[in-house]
Amino acid sequence: MEYYTLALLFLSIFTIILLSKLFSKSKQILPPGPKPWHIIGSILELGDKPHHAVAELSKKYGPIMSLKLGSKTIIVISSPEVAQEMFLKHDLAFSSRAVPHATAAGNHDKFSMVWLPVGPKWRDLRKIAIIQLFTSQTLDASQIIRQKKVNELIDYARQCGERGMPIDIGRAAFTTSLNLLSNTFFSMDLASHASSYSQEFKVLFESLLEMGGKPNLSDFFPLVKYLDLQGVLRRTTFLVNKIIGIFEEVIDGRLKDPIESVKDDVLGKLLKNVENNELDLDDVKHLLLDLFVAGTDTTSSTLEWAMTELLRNPKAMKKAQLEVEEVLGKQGPVQELDISKLPYLQAIVKETLRLHPPTPFLVPHKATKDVQLCNYFVPENSTVWVNVWSIGRNSSVWTNPKSFYPERFLENDIDVKGRDFELIPFGSGRRICPGMPLANRMTNLMLVSLLHSFNWKCVHNETNLTELEVEEKFGLTLQKVVPLQAIPLLR
Ligand code: HEM
Repeated sequence: MEYYTLALLFLSIFTIILLSKLFSKSKQILPPGPKPWHIIGSILELGDKPHHAVAELSKKYGPIMSLKLGSKTIIVISSPEVAQEMFLKHDLAFSSRAVPHATAAGNHDKFSMVWLPVGPKWRDLRKIAIIQLFTSQTLDASQIIRQKKVNELIDYARQCGERGMPIDIGRAAFTTSLNLLSNTFFSMDLASHASSYSQEFKVLFESLLEMGGKPNLSDFFPLVKYLDLQGVLRRTTFLVNKIIGIFEEVIDGRLKDPIESVKDDVLGKLLKNVENNELDLDDVKHLLLDLFVAGTDTTSSTLEWAMTELLRNPKAMKKAQLEVEEVLGKQGPVQELDISKLPYLQAIVKETLRLHPPTPFLVPHKATKDVQLCNYFVPENSTVWVNVWSIGRNSSVWTNPKSFYPERFLENDIDVKGRDFELIPFGSGRRICPGMPLANRMTNLMLVSLLHSFNWKCVHNETNLTELEVEEKFGLTLQKVVPLQAIPLLR
């Protein structure tokens, strides 16, 4: 009898182990995806516009898909439902970054709020940036700087218009964003509209973002990363050193000059953090790099895309101009406070971010442990691309997704704040863009001021912009291939 009991016990244990193994195996199913080629995986399928390529693949394999790129597993998310489960149920497990090899340039990855994993250092940097820059109180206090810089943009456009000259909208918006940040941080302009410096900064920042997003063999085959086969690390190191060098000059000037050293701008406050041993100088330089690179190009490209869409849709342009005139009259300047009274203007910015999110895959996330996501197995260390570009163009989410139709946002209360997963151009969860409140103020103020002061005549084939002229260039951010040029005509 005892023998039978013992045998039964062993049999039961064996069955439980077998079943649990089978069960856990069945749970370890990777999301579907294209069959990878040996060694290289699906690298060749990405082409020069990976966001388009993976959007097409997702139509076949579904809203959660896996790709093999060299030795890396990439999980691509293309629906609001999967994004919601990722950010609401598993935010912590996905809140670190898949760090591109290019960010090792100048040891940026060791200091950067954008690339550090969630942990004490990242938390401190983020807290300092939010307190000094992005609370409603600090933003209200720095409003006067933004107003001044936007007035300069309008003056510059007026001068060009009087001479019948077109302006490069993206570049003018970039110079405004750059000076707006440099005045908040350093109490000085870094470039003027007329000088070539602004274009040099634009090229520097855009190249850095392009390097950060460029498919790089060093990321897919870590064993060969020391060879830097595409020269991405070499080029990025040059760019990072150049930008950090500019900040070092400003910081040195501040430390050496007793008059400069009492300035109470953001740099002044950061240097106080250094005195109190809360930061060191390298932290400050890399934080400035993060904020300038993350804050200028994203904002100016949103404005450029908004103007592009308005020039292609003159009725929407007219409607926005009528709205601002009805609410504020014909006289300028428009102020930030007025934006809340302009729902159509805000709808235009949301519609632009839906169709042209500046960072198509957000900033890539990483799974820090194995996760079950929507019943699929996401292995630890997988890179996660949330394809906000394709979510914004998904016909099961949006009616007529390819049309520029700001009115859709007057009919619903979808917002960009990371809670409505059909529209998350700033991300969601712990790593949501901390600069979002500033970005919203900047883009809305620049756009409404340009629409209030001028009518716009497009130099590209009149109002009929061709497909080429709305073509995008892929990087960590999406750029327009052909810069938008338009002549401002005083209203
Ligand atoms: C991160 C979008 C403007 C600073 C991000 C992320 C996105 C984003 C998608 C990554 C979120 C994620 O991975 O889940 C945008 C857009 C902007 C904009 C669309 C303008 C239209 C700004 C501005 C600043 C800024 C003006 C600062 C001056 C940052 C920083 C991070 C970040 C520091 C990294 C945060 C972290 O990793 O903890 N942004 N951004 N951004 N953004 Fe922005």
